[in-house]
Amino acid sequence: MVQDLTDDEVRTLGEDGVVVRDDALALDVLDRIRAAVVALDEADALHPAGIGRDGRLQPRVRSDRITWLEDAGGTDAFVTLFGFFEALRGVLIQGTWQSLPRFSVQLASYRGGGVGYARHIDALPGDPNRRFTAILYLNPGWQPADGGLLRAWTGAGTVELAPVAGRLVLFRSEGVPHQVLPAVAPRYAATAWFRGPEPLPLLPDPQAVRRGLG
Ligand code: OGA
Ligand code: MN
Repeated sequence: MVQDLTDDEVRTLGEDGVVVRDDALALDVLDRIRAAVVALDEADALHPAGIGRDGRLQPRVRSDRITWLEDAGGTDAFVTLFGFFEALRGVLIQGTWQSLPRFSVQLASYRGGGVGYARHIDALPGDPNRRFTAILYLNPGWQPADGGLLRAWTGAGTVELAPVAGRLVLFRSEGVPHQVLPAVAPRYAATAWFRGPEPLPLLPDPQAVRRGLG
């Protein structure tokens, strides 16, 4: 579990860097989460992921298979996973002083054979609410030959990270372009997006209200 963010980590997030925490969860817990995601994939409960607001399929851009945690059933491992991200939400609020009332969690499988996800940012135009991305990787024994690195373009240069079990990667959703390099081996991850508050509804124009027109 992540207890808090250091001042350095908070600064890194603010400068559009990437914060990496290894061993964010115990290996047996990660194993159970991974097994639950694999079971969904084998039961064909994951579907090809789309891109953009309309979610169109573009396999050359993105070819992972996903579902959302709320659609994944209440398996114990998923309850634990939800609790992990819920705790992280508190840590992010405390560390960054942002209001983060909501989050959603995606389970993703890259089945291997060279599938990846081209360079993109996570905050869609017109959807400024995704503030932070947190990716938890689920792959024990990941080898360099397995490919599937996360490449991110940060304020301080490019980083490449292997999706090893227990590694947690955090960054600002609208600030850090990234891609998944072709994965040769099956690659599993759980990604949370922490969202800001809904915009306030439009208020009446006070001048007009005073003139009795509101
Ligand atoms: C995503 C994404 C990266 C990864 O799902 O938006 O960029 O390393 N995933 O799985
Ligand atoms: Mn992404």
